[in-house]
Amino acid sequence: MSTPFRSGAFRLSPSDYSALTDAAQQNPEVYWQNQSTRLDWIRSPSSAQDTGNGWFADGTLNASVNCLDRHLESRGEQIGLIWQAEEADHVVRLTYRDLHARVCQMANVLRDHGISRGDRVAIHLPTVIEGVVGMLACARLGAIHVVLFGGFSPEAIADRLADSGATLVITANVGRRGAKRIPFKTTMDSALSLRPETLSVRSVLVVSVTDEPVPMQAGRDELLTPLLEKAETSCPAETMASTDPLFLLYTSGSTGKPKGIVHGTGGYLTWASYTHELVFDHQKGDVFWCTADIGWITGHSYVVYGPLSNGGTILLFEGMPSHPTPGRWWEVIQSHKVTTFYTSPTAIRALMREGNDLPRQYDLTSLRVLGTVGEPISQEAWSWFDDVIGGGRCAFVDTWWQTESGGIMISPVPGAVKEKPASATLPLPGVHPVLLDDKGQVLDGATEGVLCLDGSWPGRALTIWNDDALFQTTYLRPYPGHYFTGDGARRDEDGYYWITGRVDDVINVSGHRIGSAEIEDALAAEHAIVESAAIGIPHDLKGQGIIVYAVARDPSHPELEMLAVRAITAKVGRYAVPEKVYIVPDLPKTRSGKNVRRLMRKIACGETDGLGDLSTLADPEIVDVLIRIVQG
Ligand code: WT7
Repeated sequence: MSTPFRSGAFRLSPSDYSALTDAAQQNPEVYWQNQSTRLDWIRSPSSAQDTGNGWFADGTLNASVNCLDRHLESRGEQIGLIWQAEEADHVVRLTYRDLHARVCQMANVLRDHGISRGDRVAIHLPTVIEGVVGMLACARLGAIHVVLFGGFSPEAIADRLADSGATLVITANVGRRGAKRIPFKTTMDSALSLRPETLSVRSVLVVSVTDEPVPMQAGRDELLTPLLEKAETSCPAETMASTDPLFLLYTSGSTGKPKGIVHGTGGYLTWASYTHELVFDHQKGDVFWCTADIGWITGHSYVVYGPLSNGGTILLFEGMPSHPTPGRWWEVIQSHKVTTFYTSPTAIRALMREGNDLPRQYDLTSLRVLGTVGEPISQEAWSWFDDVIGGGRCAFVDTWWQTESGGIMISPVPGAVKEKPASATLPLPGVHPVLLDDKGQVLDGATEGVLCLDGSWPGRALTIWNDDALFQTTYLRPYPGHYFTGDGARRDEDGYYWITGRVDDVINVSGHRIGSAEIEDALAAEHAIVESAAIGIPHDLKGQGIIVYAVARDPSHPELEMLAVRAITAKVGRYAVPEKVYIVPDLPKTRSGKNVRRLMRKIACGETDGLGDLSTLADPEIVDVLIRIVQG
C-alpha cells in the first residue's frame, strides 16, 4: 500500500535527493563541510569529521547568534515566535528583534547571578516563552542548559540536579491546565530539600505564570520578571568551540540511573538545521508547530534550534490537545495558519477517538507537512492523520530518531521520498543504518534485525555527562564497529525501514522513554516489596503500558499495590505509573537467577500457549501460578 506521490510543491525533487545521497556517499567530508556552511561560524572548521570527541573540532561559533543575531538584518521584523495561551484571545507574537532582546535580557540576568561558560543551568518550566528564551540565553553565555521535564517527581529532579551540578534553576510559580495549577515551584522546593548536600544550586529564578504567590526562600529565590525588565537588551555572545557542550538532556536506558546525554554546539546545530530544512521542507513564511514539550529532545531540536537557526516561525501552545474544547488543536492550526505540524502517535490516537466531524469543522488547508515522532504509528492512525487532518494533500514524515542522535535520522523527505504508511522509510542523506543479527553479523536485503548506525553524523551525542564509560558500553560496545540504537527494525524489498520497537529494557509509554530498571529501583526502595520486574505491553492509547510483577515481604499486606504506585510516583513521576501491579510469590527466573521478561510479557498479554522453552527456569511451577494471578 502506498500513497500517491505528492511532488511539486516541495523544495526537493527525487533527483535532487539522489544527488544529495550520492554526494554524501562519495565524499562525506566535503558533504558535511558544505552542510556546516549553513551556520555562521566565528572560525570556520578546517575539517568536517568526528574526531572522537565531536564534529568540526577547530570551528568556533555561538548557537544563540546563529538562532537570532544573524537573522536581524534580513528578518528582524519577521515573527520568530508565536505563543498561544490556553485562552483563544491571548496571543503573544515576538519578532526576531524582540526575541533577541529578550534573550539578551535573560543572559544578562544569568550573568549577574554568576553564570558563565561551562556552568549548568536547570530549566523547569511549563510551555512559556521563558523556556525558549532561557535555553538561548544559556547558549549565549556558553552555559550548558539542562531542561527538566515538568512531569518529573522531586526525587527525579534532585537526581538530575545533583548529577549535572546545576548552580542555577529557572522555574515557574505554577503551570496552568484549565482551572488546575501545576505546582512547579513547590515541586522544585521539595527537590532542593531532599539531599541538599549533593546539590550546588545557589539561585532559583521564578517566572510568574499567574499572580499566585509561592513561598520564596530569601537569599536563594527571586521573581524573574522584575529582573528581566531592568536588564539591558544587548549582551555579547561567548565564542564557543564546536565541541563545547550546548546542553545536557537526561534520558532513560537499561540502568536505573538517568543518563545525561551531552550534545555539542557546532555538530548538533548543523544537524538540527539540516534535518529541519530537509524533513520539514522548510520554506519562507512557514509556521512550524511542534507540539513537544521543551523537556524532551524533540522540543530542543524542533521547537528551538532547528527552526530558529533556519529563520522560521515557531508556535508554542500552552494548552492541551483537547482543552478547553476537544477541537482546540485544530482551532490553533486554523487561527495561526500552521503549515507544518509535528506531533506524536499518542496524541493522534487520542484525537482520532473524537471522530472525524470535529476536525472537519476547521479550515486546515494551510497544512503542507505532517510529522510524527517518538513511537511506531499504526497504519490506521497514519491514514487518519493523513486523510482527516492533512486532507490527503500533505507530505507525511514519520521520523525516527532518538535523544542521542540529536535530530532526525530516518524519515521521508517531502516531494522526494515516496511514503508508505507507518514506515519511517529511508535514511536521510549521509545516514547509514544497518541491521544486524544476534551475533552481530550485518544482514543484507529485506530482513529484520537490530538497528545500528554506521559511521558518525554531526548530530551524534558527545558522551554521557560524568560517565563516558557508560556511553561506550551502551552504544559502542554491544556491536563493535557499529553504533547501537536500542531499536529493532525490518527492512523491506525497497530498502524502507519499519521500526519494530526497543530491543532493550526500555518501555515507551505515550512516547516517554522509561527504563524498566528505573521502576524496579523505585520499588526496591519500598520496604514492603522484596523484588520486582517492570515490563511493557501493548496499550491502545499509550502505545505501551507498564505492568509490574512484585514480590511482597508480607503478601497479606492490604495496600501493596497502592504502596508500589506511590513509590513509583515519588521516585520517577506520575507518567511512569503502571497499568497494573501483580503481587506474586516469586518472579520467573533462569537457574542463573536472571528474570525471564519475555515470559512475564506473554503472560501479561493473556497468552497461555507458546510460552517458549520453560526448561531453563529454576522453578517451572511458577508459570502456572503467574497465569492464575494475572489471567484470573
Ligand atoms: C526512541 C527514542 C526522537 C524524539 C522523541 C523520542 C522511539 C522514535 C520513532 C518512530 C518508531 C520511534 C524509538 C527510539 N521512536 N521515533 N518514528 N517510529 N519508534 O526520543 O525519548 O530518545 O526515544 O523512541 O524506540 O529509540 P527518545
